[in-house]
Amino acid sequence: PSLDAIYNLTDFEHVARHTMDPTAWAYYSSGSDDEITMRENRNAYQRIFFRPRIMVDVSKIDMSTTMLGCKTSVPFYITATALGKLGHPDGETVLTRAAGKEGVIQMIPTLASCAFDEIVDAADGTQTQWFQLYVNADRAVCRKLVEHAEARGVRGLFITVDAPQLGRREKDMRSKHFEETTDVQQEEEEEEKIDRLQGAARAISSFIDTSLSWKDVAWFRSITKMPILLKGVQSVDDALLAAEHGCDGIVLSNHGGRQLEFAPSAIEILTEVMPALRARGVDTNKFQVYVDGGVRRGSDIIKAICLGAKGVGLGRLFLYAMSTYGEQGVRKAINILQDEIEMNMRLLGVTSIAQLSEKYVDVLGLKNG
Ligand code: FNR
Repeated sequence: PSLDAIYNLTDFEHVARHTMDPTAWAYYSSGSDDEITMRENRNAYQRIFFRPRIMVDVSKIDMSTTMLGCKTSVPFYITATALGKLGHPDGETVLTRAAGKEGVIQMIPTLASCAFDEIVDAADGTQTQWFQLYVNADRAVCRKLVEHAEARGVRGLFITVDAPQLGRREKDMRSKHFEETTDVQQEEEEEEKIDRLQGAARAISSFIDTSLSWKDVAWFRSITKMPILLKGVQSVDDALLAAEHGCDGIVLSNHGGRQLEFAPSAIEILTEVMPALRARGVDTNKFQVYVDGGVRRGSDIIKAICLGAKGVGLGRLFLYAMSTYGEQGVRKAINILQDEIEMNMRLLGVTSIAQLSEKYVDVLGLKNG
């Protein structure tokens, strides 16, 4: 279908499912095990309702905000997802160009298909980019990546902490298996075969340091001036520890339901984390909390901001938009979210991101879904 026939982000997913290369679709869409957490990421948002206000002058709506001190036109960002070229020949640079034109922040993944410099070079010189780091057991490699990112103008370091081992994404593994057993021309080394049978995800992740721990935060602090955030925090206790260890923030995330099956949704944890941080006297404008997972509507984003998130990341939906319609698709996805956010803010009776607060949401149903 033409891009005009796309009305919401889920439409991109439907088109992607039917038109993408099956292996790419399997890698992007899969969650771990029975995908309970992946579905819960969506479901949790559906248990939160609004408490709208009326008779507010809503003729002008401003959804711009700042994240880590950088201006952005919207309260959401494009989060880090590996292997962009599975979905589009130009890979992550497609996201970069769309993000630049729409004033959206992009997080560059360690495991991008494009070279890091290509992705930075695709930026327009004014747009904000962040860097997601998978911590390599070889710290010299890490240091080089981080120093290079900083030197190239990256404005935030997001250390992924939820993946000491990659989750079992069986759809991905099965698709690799299928490819393997149907391709008669392949004459690969036995070892390589095993890697492939484990799926795209596992094949690329063997370098990740399983010994990463709290003491490493100080080391990262010693090698960079970029804000340091931990991506993949999933509990109140770890949120508090991150603040104690001098991190600049966290991303509450379960990796899009691709890691620990039965990990809770970020939005649910957010409702516990924000009060706990405030009770500890943490300034949540300085120690910033982000969330990702399961977001596909402007209303989801508003709910997270109401509950204290500084910004909201989207992974898969931008991949689907990129894979189906390229840069125009990603821009359209951004525009749809903008339209939805604007309309929802107007109907909610708020005109700026700063006005969004807990009093606009009803979370009573969240815990007993
Ligand atoms: C991811 N995610 C991820 N996270 C990370 O820190 N490093 C990575 O390399 C990747 N790679 C990756 C690939 C794919 C295909 C997906 C779907 C996800 C997790 C990602 O940053 C984010 O946490 C989730 O994607 C958010 O959930 P949604 O928006 O996909 O539901």
